[in-house]
Amino acid sequence: MNTVQKTLNISLSFLTQILIKQLPIMVLGLVSFNVTANEFDPRQAVHLNEQLKAQIFSNMRGMLTATQSIIGALAVDDMEAVANYARSVGFKAKKKQSNDELHSALPKSFKILGKAMHMDFDKIADDAVTLKDSKHTLQQLADVLGHCQGCHETFRIDSSVNEVSNSMPVK
Ligand code: HEC
Repeated sequence: MNTVQKTLNISLSFLTQILIKQLPIMVLGLVSFNVTANEFDPRQAVHLNEQLKAQIFSNMRGMLTATQSIIGALAVDDMEAVANYARSVGFKAKKKQSNDELHSALPKSFKILGKAMHMDFDKIADDAVTLKDSKHTLQQLADVLGHCQGCHETFRIDSSVNEVSNSMPVK
C-alpha cells in the first residue's frame, strides 16, 4: 500500500468516526422528510414497501451470518477465511450487487452509515491478510458491531401503508 492510499485510508476511517459520532444530529437534520416516529418506538421509521423490506432484512441476516463466520474463522486463526468472509460484505462486493430501487428508497444518513460499515469490512479483509493479527481484527469487529448497534438504535423499517393511522390516538 503506498503512502497516498495509507493517508486516504486513515482519513476515511477518521471521517467514519466523525460520521458515527454525529449520526444522531445528522439524522434529525437530514431525514425528517421521509421518516416518522412512533409513540411506542422512538426510532425513526424508514418507509419501504413489503418487497424492499424483505430484501433489506435478508441483507441484514446476511450481515449477521458473515459476522458469525468471521468470528468462527478468527477463533481458529484462519485469517484467509476471515478476509474472504469480510470481503463478501465489503463495499466493493456490495456495490456490484447493489439494488437501485432499494438504494433510492433509503434516507441519505442511513446509506452513509451503511456505506461506512461496508467499507470497514473491506478494511477488516485487507488487514486480515496483511497484518494477520487476530487481536487487531477482533478490535475492528467490535467497532463494526458498534455501527450495527448505532443504526439499529436509530432506525426501524416500516412497511405499513397508512402511516397516519399509526400516529392517531387510540380510542
Ligand atoms: C445503516 C443502518 C444499519 C446498519 C449499519 C446495520 N443494520 Fe441491521 N437493521 C437495520 C434496521 C433499520 C433493521 C430493522 C429494525 C426494525 O425495523 O426493527 C435491521 C435489522 C436487522 C436484523 C433483523 C433481520 C430480520 O430478518 O428480522 C438483523 C439480524 C440485523 N439487522 C443485523 C445487522 C448486523 C449484524 C449489522 C452489522 C454487521 C447490521 N445489521 C447493521 C439497520 C442497520
